[in-house]
Amino acid sequence: MEKLYFRSLYLLIILILSGRGEGQLVQNFYSSTCPNVENIFRQVVLTKVKQTFVTIPATIRLFFHDCFVEGCDGSVLIASPNSDAEKDAPDNLSLAGDGFDTVVKAKQAVEAQCPGVVSCSDILAIAARDVVLQAGGPAYNVELGRRDGTISKASRVAGNLPEPTFDLTQLNTIFAKNNLSQTDMIALSGCHTVGFSHCSRFANRTYSFSPSNPVDPTLDPAYAQQLMQECPQNVDPQIAINMDPVTPQVFDNVYFQNLVARKGLFTSDQVLFEDPASQPTVLDFARNPGDFNRAFITAITKLGRVGVKTGNQGEIRRDCSAFNS
Ligand code: HEM
Ligand SMILES: *[C@@H]1O[C@H](CO)[C@@H](O)[C@H](O)[C@H]1NC(C)=O
Ligand SMILES: *[C@@H]1O[C@H](CO)[C@@H](O)[C@H](O)[C@H]1NC(C)=O
Ligand SMILES: *[C@@H]1O[C@H](CO)[C@@H](O)[C@H](O)[C@H]1NC(C)=O
Repeated sequence: MEKLYFRSLYLLIILILSGRGEGQLVQNFYSSTCPNVENIFRQVVLTKVKQTFVTIPATIRLFFHDCFVEGCDGSVLIASPNSDAEKDAPDNLSLAGDGFDTVVKAKQAVEAQCPGVVSCSDILAIAARDVVLQAGGPAYNVELGRRDGTISKASRVAGNLPEPTFDLTQLNTIFAKNNLSQTDMIALSGCHTVGFSHCSRFANRTYSFSPSNPVDPTLDPAYAQQLMQECPQNVDPQIAINMDPVTPQVFDNVYFQNLVARKGLFTSDQVLFEDPASQPTVLDFARNPGDFNRAFITAITKLGRVGVKTGNQGEIRRDCSAFNS
């Protein structure tokens, strides 16, 4: 009797939850249509990470850029014959290569078991979760049910991605457009705990900050020296350096400790400590890894909901780099 009661209660809850309808992502979205999907990907991502560490930062950044342009809908993955798709925009540096390759390999593996079921946007969301964990970051359940978008234009990128020169107000504005709070923005900036930047992205801070002050005074002097050594003027534009100079390959809260030590690479990183409005959060994340991890999970889950297509919107792409028709 009691069992029956709980059973109907359970069914009722399911009904209410699914009644929330379109626009909502859920965990275990593929539990009946492709129950093994997350295990399949874990293997693919693990193999790819073993081949090259760059898989980790490349996949995370790809997910971020996908979500901020047209929503998390796989639009960043489209290859255009005319080079006018999202991935061809000027801000595509380092998006190429291993992030894309991870998604392509995961798609191949999943199509062999459940053809036409799993969207490329969900693949990217799962892969981003997996690489964070691989790098020592927090584990979390990823919400699924995204459909792939049918628009991908380089012209839609400009103005939708944050610039490394941004101040706190500019950062907050662009994140707020994506329903992300200042705390979310700070936690997500913690992604710069792994990965690389090309020298040109911060050269202003070491060579031409201002006429009287060529070096940005918010840079720790020894760190500024190190940056000038790694990135001399007229450096090969291909050269990229670690964004976290202390634990470059670990997804940890050392990024925030670096900010406190004035070793943030971009103006947009360092400003989070310099501005009194965001400094308390940076100090909290620097001191309490648990607080950072919790805030990060909240923020990346919200990031994954940005502009998603669900229900019968969009499509399930057969080839992640091309629209179906
Ligand atoms: C807060 C504003 C942000 C700005 C201004 C910014 C800017 C940048 C820039 C300029 C680079 C270097 C790209 C290059 O030279 O190749 C970079 C790299 C990176 N960003 Fe951000 N980013 C921001 C937020 C984020 C967020 C929210 C995430 C993750 C959710 C993220 C993840 C990454 C990763 C992982 C890399 C390294 C990519 C690689 O090594 O291939 N960034 N970012
Ligand atoms: C990045 O964008 C530039 C144009 O801004 C383009 O020439 C280049 O091919 C793109 N790179 C990749 C890997 O898509
Ligand atoms: C360098 O600074 C100048 C002037 O502030 C700015 O116009 C330019 O966009 C900056 N370059 C980079 C790569 O940030
Ligand atoms: C932000 O949230 C509102 C309310 O839930 C929603 O209508 C809107 O589409 C969201 N914006 C983005 C970019 O996801």
